[in-house]
Amino acid sequence: MIAVRFADKKKNTEQDSDWNQMRNISRAQIRGEKNVEKFVINGGHPLKGEILVSGAKNSAVAILPAALLLDVPCMIENVPDISDVKICLKVLKGLGAEVKALGNDTYWISCRNVTDYYVPYKEAKKMRASYYFLGALLGRCHNARAAMPGGCPLGARPIDQHLKAFEILGAKQLIEDQQSDIVELHADRLHGGRISMDVVSVGATMNAILAAVKAPGITIIENAAKEPHIVDLANFLNYMGAHIKGAGTDVIKIQGVEKLMGNAGEGSQDVAYRYAVVPDQIEAGTFMIAAAATRGDVLIKGVIPKHLEAISAKLRDCGVTVEELDDEEAVRVCASADSKLTATNIKTEPYPGYPTDMQPQMATFLTIAEGESSIIENVWEDRFRYVNELRKMGAEIDITQNGAIVRGGSGLSGASVNACDLRAGAAMIIAGLMADGCTEITEIQHIERGYADIAAKLRGIGADMKKV
Ligand code: EPU
Repeated sequence: MIAVRFADKKKNTEQDSDWNQMRNISRAQIRGEKNVEKFVINGGHPLKGEILVSGAKNSAVAILPAALLLDVPCMIENVPDISDVKICLKVLKGLGAEVKALGNDTYWISCRNVTDYYVPYKEAKKMRASYYFLGALLGRCHNARAAMPGGCPLGARPIDQHLKAFEILGAKQLIEDQQSDIVELHADRLHGGRISMDVVSVGATMNAILAAVKAPGITIIENAAKEPHIVDLANFLNYMGAHIKGAGTDVIKIQGVEKLMGNAGEGSQDVAYRYAVVPDQIEAGTFMIAAAATRGDVLIKGVIPKHLEAISAKLRDCGVTVEELDDEEAVRVCASADSKLTATNIKTEPYPGYPTDMQPQMATFLTIAEGESSIIENVWEDRFRYVNELRKMGAEIDITQNGAIVRGGSGLSGASVNACDLRAGAAMIIAGLMADGCTEITEIQHIERGYADIAAKLRGIGADMKKV
């Protein structure tokens, strides 16, 4: 049975119009009017020089919705220039927030006029992180409504742990039809609670924090995710006056607060707090692997080396030199033309284990490491769609039940390949940089969801790569 409260006629009409736009997009695609932008890479050039990492996608997409919880404006710096961020900003503006861009990577945001809690269907469907608007809007308005989030096709992507957390904090789901594409939540009053996550989930941990931060009483999140972006969200909220302890460990304790306004006085509207998003661990890791895979020598700057430890360890296993330069907030990665690169085994796990978001890139690198490497994917059930694309370039990879075996040692040759999802697309870029000849990568909108200006950045360290 579908019970929809609060869904007034206006909202249904908006949703219909979103649906119509979705239908139009699909028809255009069927007619062959696809996104035809592509990356063209002439491979075989060792990457050399310095490259700067942008702010973390998976932090920014949680911190921007978190601005909805603030009682004063804020200024968020080091925001990456990627399409997922543009969608978040569009949703914020659509809800009534004032958003001003101050340069390339800084935004002034005031949510004082936000009263709506409806995330447009079309935007919610475009990215995974739209689910953070559920937690943030619930915390702000005690109501939230959004479509089931979109994002990369990596197999089943349930949100049961998010919904479990919301319910423990006092929210009810208003649409109980399991088949419904819409999530609508309402809480007469939110309150603290003990949330024990059945699986370690980044998104559910973030959402529990967002919904609990202003809920009266104490919330405890057990079996919490420990990724750097969880710590970043907690730091941002604490900076604004929240009481969150234990972020980065598997137990997080939150004492709900009434207001989030930093040191500003009651009613202050002009004070803008500044907070900088942490560097993107996955963008940094992608550059590290690109440097090793092209037998280059690259200083990757603006990083937190500790966040990269699992990636550095695996590269060292394979014979790559990785220097951590904590004082300079940089890592240097080099593999000379004559250094022997050897196989390794990887198993993806939640942080601090080896990140699933670095699995396709590492598999690509392993095609030049001598011997047989085994990859086990423990987080997503369908994260090997890139293997078919790599095979077009000559890679020898077999898919196993929950992983892959890479038989490395031979090189790759340029080909026309597809970016099946964001990190698969990053793997195709690395493959193109390593390969002999020319590689063309299509469906690059997936890559642009998470990598800011990647062609220009890689050109800066010697890649022959352009977007056409
Ligand atoms: N899961 C459940 N129930 C839930 C939530 C998750 O069973 O309610 C399962 C998932 O099916 C999965 C595992 O738990 O098997 C972990 O999922 P998690 O919730 O941690 O993933 P997520 O929050 O949806 C974020 C990143 C992903 C990254 C994963 C794992 C964002 C916006 N996305 O997704 O990033 O792969 O954590 O680290 O933060 C990417 O950037 O390319 C990307 C896919």
